[in-house]
Amino acid sequence: MIALLGGTGYIGTAFREYLDAQKRPYKSLGRTELDYYDVDALSGWIERHSPRFLINAAGYTGKPNVDACELQPRDCLRGNTVLPAVVRRACERTQLPWGHISSGCIYTGTRPDGSAFTEEDLPNFSFAQDNCSFYSGCKALAEDLLRGAARCYIWRPRLPFNQVDSSRNYLSKLLRYDCLVDVRNSMTQLDEFVAACVQCFDRQLPFGIYHLTCSGSTTTRDVVRVLLRRGLTNKAFQFFASEEEFMQKAALAPRSNCILNNEKALRAGLRLSHIDEAIDKAILAWTKN
Ligand SMILES: NC(=O)c1ccc[n+]([C@@H]2O[C@H](COP(=O)([O-])OP(=O)(O)OC[C@H]3O[C@@H](n4cnc5c(N)ncnc54)[C@H](OP(=O)(O)O)[C@@H]3O)[C@@H](O)[C@H]2O)c1
Repeated sequence: MIALLGGTGYIGTAFREYLDAQKRPYKSLGRTELDYYDVDALSGWIERHSPRFLINAAGYTGKPNVDACELQPRDCLRGNTVLPAVVRRACERTQLPWGHISSGCIYTGTRPDGSAFTEEDLPNFSFAQDNCSFYSGCKALAEDLLRGAARCYIWRPRLPFNQVDSSRNYLSKLLRYDCLVDVRNSMTQLDEFVAACVQCFDRQLPFGIYHLTCSGSTTTRDVVRVLLRRGLTNKAFQFFASEEEFMQKAALAPRSNCILNNEKALRAGLRLSHIDEAIDKAILAWTKN
């Protein structure tokens, strides 16, 4: 049996759907059922139920977007930094392997030479750099607290999307926002992401950090071109003139736009499509929710 924290969330739901499709036994633990912020409660549950491994898909992401984390810093710190530290203690106490969903948003841009960030690169969008959103700072701080954790995977997705319309899906956001900012990013196909996370355990890959993003990177304008070319919309998309204008007019917190190198995951045999192929496929199979 697999233990899943955050199973009601956007990413947690994708885990449940994947595990259901695979007919894999799992238990999705809600906060009302078990106070999993309490290390004794979580360790006790693990001891009583003996899961094979645990996935932490819980966190505080802010609704409707990351700006909400600036206004709710306690919830953000608790969900994104305190909780992973609690889960680490409970899993180490019970010797349970586990995985934590971090984020690529602890980086901004590329390495100085223009190449993509690897798992070896330290976050450059964090409280330590004093340049980040509160959300990114909390995610980076969590990774500091997980350094050296025993039998732990840290998975970093970035701008998740798939073919199912949802307020959290990157493609839905492009369709809904009044005005877009043209930036280059790595992105994650959500269904590939959850499959890759579970396969880390199944294939007993070395514990540690994995960038689970599609190969390559793309820009907002490139994705919009596919949305129009495939006829998903005929919207006349508006763009901010620059990131600066976007920051002035539409955002509270600085945004991470970054490019991640996924070669470690590919070398380990995890399946991650090229971004152009994954975006095109998702748009062709689009399902209105
Ligand atoms: N969505 C993205 O774009 C994205 C990108 C990169 C990384 N991530 C990471 O992936 C994880 C899951 O994100 P998500 O988008 O699936 O989030 P979500 O849809 O907001 O779901 C959050 C989940 O966490 C649980 N939770 C536990 N403590 C919470 C708290 N203090 N405040 C709010 N919810 C809490 C919620 O459970 P209840 O049912 O009890 O509310 C819910 O199941 C997070 O760690 C996030 O940082 C997300």
